[in-house]
Amino acid sequence: EARDLVDPYGRVVRDLRIAVTDRCNFRCTYCMPEEGMEWMPRSEILTFEEITRVARICVEQYGFTGIRLTGGEPTIRAHFSRLVSQLSGLGIDVAMTTNAATLRNTAHDLHAAGLNRINISLDTLDREKFERMTRRDELENVLAGIDAAIDAGFEPVKINAVIERGVNDDELVDLARFGRDTGVEVRFIEFMPLDATDEWQRSKVVGQDEIVARLSEVWELEQVPARGAAPADRWRYTDGGGLVGVIPTVTKPFCGDCDRVRLTADGQLRTCLFSTDEFDLRAALRDGETDEQIAARIEAAVGTKWAGHQINQVNFIRPKRNMSQIGG
Ligand code: GTP
Ligand code: 5AD
Ligand code: SF4
Repeated sequence: EARDLVDPYGRVVRDLRIAVTDRCNFRCTYCMPEEGMEWMPRSEILTFEEITRVARICVEQYGFTGIRLTGGEPTIRAHFSRLVSQLSGLGIDVAMTTNAATLRNTAHDLHAAGLNRINISLDTLDREKFERMTRRDELENVLAGIDAAIDAGFEPVKINAVIERGVNDDELVDLARFGRDTGVEVRFIEFMPLDATDEWQRSKVVGQDEIVARLSEVWELEQVPARGAAPADRWRYTDGGGLVGVIPTVTKPFCGDCDRVRLTADGQLRTCLFSTDEFDLRAALRDGETDEQIAARIEAAVGTKWAGHQINQVNFIRPKRNMSQIGG
């Protein structure tokens, strides 16, 4: 029988974010350098069977209700839809966060494999700026990928736009309009200090209040109450234009409601995007430990979960890994 997995601050952990690869077909400037990262060796990456086993333990022992597949770029892992099928067999919500560049050809298969939800990164609607921000000329493919996700029946499709001052903050209204016209929920993300090249600065963060003020100059917004454990605060366009969100990690941390743990592609359990400690589940899996022994390791890890990140404290220490190595 499943029992609640409770952290030291009384939060119940029910959501597992799994990075399935550290590799990516893009090179977004807020994540990676042009040359990419030093990729993890194949032998260190969890197999589909190992990933599915960790997920099953979380569901059976602790009643987890959701899994999100991330990366790197999850869709570039070979035979990715087979992993989706295996995980959808656990009977809980399975979602994915992707750059969508490959979705034009794969969205239907992923839907058929049991994937429930897709969030897509799109930071600009301008082709040249897209190429500057991602270092790839793929805007057309991404837009086609968004259409394919909608066509395939994913509901909702959400768009993630990381906003960096002086880079794409001039497009807040255009991106919001794109969401209204396309019927997708755009979420503006405050730039976080997880870029590999350490170029994050507080002055580059466009905060939630500023974002909402800018949109409010154009549309009337009404805040949707009760965010639950989701990272996004949401607003409704009062004219019926749908929903828009902001993920305010820096200016309005939501750690108090966090229900997540993360598994990296190389099998390390992390209790926060920003944690400095990791718990080696890969070694446990490969040493032949029982489900109970692995569950005990997960419990021990959750026992160290912090109250919240320390971005706003003077003693903030960046994690050694960047976003693509943690999984978004
Ligand atoms: P849903 O709300 O289920 O649609 O997904 P999500 O927003 O949790 O997932 P997604 O992968 O789309 O993440 C959007 C942004 O939120 C990314 O920049 C993530 O890094 C960030 N995010 C997700 N979980 C956390 C978290 O626990 N803490 C912080 N600070 N940011 C998070
Ligand atoms: N700050 C905020 N969000 C980021 N993402 C990647 N790097 C950063 C960063 N430094 C976003 C991606 C994707 C999600 C998984 O994380 O755009 O939408
Ligand atoms: Fe790839 Fe995502 Fe990093 Fe962009 S943010 S380089 S899409 S892993």
